[in-house]
Amino acid sequence: MQSLQDKASEWSGVAAADAFAIDGCNIFEALGGTPQPFVDLSTNFYTRVYEDEEEWFRDIFAGSKKEDAIQNQYEFLIQRMGGPPLFSERRGHPALIGRHRAFPVTHRAAERWLHHMQQALDTTESIDADSKAKMMNFFRHTAYFLVAGLETTRQHSHGCRGTACKHGASKPAE
Ligand code: HEM
Repeated sequence: MQSLQDKASEWSGVAAADAFAIDGCNIFEALGGTPQPFVDLSTNFYTRVYEDEEEWFRDIFAGSKKEDAIQNQYEFLIQRMGGPPLFSERRGHPALIGRHRAFPVTHRAAERWLHHMQQALDTTESIDADSKAKMMNFFRHTAYFLVAGLETTRQHSHGCRGTACKHGASKPAE
């Protein structure tokens, strides 16, 4: 059976090695070792999401306050990209598939999410070009990992515990 990782690679067009190139360096430290670039990126991203002209996509986020969504995302990104484990300290294990179960994470939604993230990265000056490229590969792969994971768990309705996953893995600060 094709693994979720394989599906994510096939659907996203990003090989696992490229998706997890973020682990070959410490992006948090490379960007100066402060939360600011991640706060900038998540604020930029969610401002686009909450103002999206496509109502069907905007509506997916209607149950969350923008400020909370921004904080959840930048704390996750800081933790995942080599910084302190802020997300897990406040929210627990990332468990990305489980946390997205309530939302319609379809191929179309993934492409819209990635469209906003690409634009947010393109307009965030506190992140260098090499880090942006690595982050975007991670985002593309993770978005399709979520699509594949949610399709699979919905088909079999047995939850996703035990699914091997590096997307939410916490990388401790060095
Ligand atoms: C939270 C949708 C992709 C990481 C959320 C929320 C929604 C959502 C509606 C709730 C907002 C909040 O209250 O924080 C989607 C959709 C995606 C997608 C439609 C399309 C594929 C991703 C990707 C990542 C990600 C690619 C990681 C790289 C997170 C995290 C949270 C979150 C960390 C916060 C969870 C929490 O604190 O409970 N997402 N997401 N999402 N998403 Fe996504």
